[in-house]
Amino acid sequence: MDTPLPDDLIEALRTTRHVAVLTGAGVSAESGIPTFRDAQTGLWAQYSAQELATPEAFHRNPRLVWEWYASRRERVTTAQPNPGHYALAKLEARVPRFTLITQNVDGLHLRAGNSDPIELHGNLMRARCSVEGTVFTSWAAHETVPPPCPNCGALLRPDIVWFGEALPSAALNRAWTAAKSCDLFLSIGTSGVVEPAASLPRIAYNRGATLVLINLDVATSVGPRSFYLNARSGVVLPALVSAAFPQPASA
Ligand code: OAD
Repeated sequence: MDTPLPDDLIEALRTTRHVAVLTGAGVSAESGIPTFRDAQTGLWAQYSAQELATPEAFHRNPRLVWEWYASRRERVTTAQPNPGHYALAKLEARVPRFTLITQNVDGLHLRAGNSDPIELHGNLMRARCSVEGTVFTSWAAHETVPPPCPNCGALLRPDIVWFGEALPSAALNRAWTAAKSCDLFLSIGTSGVVEPAASLPRIAYNRGATLVLINLDVATSVGPRSFYLNARSGVVLPALVSAAFPQPASA
């Protein structure tokens, strides 16, 4: 870790009562998963995510959309959580109150050990009936693609929030509540351009929380109670958590 961590940031983490964390695709970049603003590759290079991740695209060509998500699911299944994910799992175990809010759909926070991430945009490893809304964590292969809902026979769709769709209200309410009640908010690996997630850091800051932004973009100054770390999350998060909590968790 070449850039030194500010002592007052380490102290803020060490003494926090409630830390809320918002993660974006940048946290999974070091696990080999392209961020949303990275160009698509291979067969999918001819499409943009915005073209495929919509209800209209699914209605127009359900097979194409299902196969795109199947290819992403396959990539995620072979990916591993990186040190940034594990640092957030360690942080959850060390602070009095911890809320993880993620825009990522790769499920890597769960695999790294975080207990209850708020998945604002859904999860690639789940599918749901396009009519009833029933959610499935597994489904049988079928000669038709997408496979039919085992209950009603309608098409299964990815359990993902598409552009133009509302976020799950329970998840969003939990995220807003955490942003309003935390004393420290970490926004990590997100370009902060997609609402309503993009407003969470500002909500926390305006309520008096200390705000920490970690990404590789150009520095964005926020105000006196804020820190900007232009660094890879897989490097800076382990350094930050180890500096704040140098002792192993008591058995
Ligand atoms: P983006 O691709 O928009 O932004 C990725 C962010 O991660 C950028 O700010 C990068 O600087 C940063 N980054 C890249 N590698 C990093 C690393 N190793 N360490 C730290 N930061 C790194 O991805 P998101 O902000 O997550 O929404 O995109 C938000 C939403 O836009 C997605 O959830 C998706 C998309 O539209 C839906 O699908 C509804």
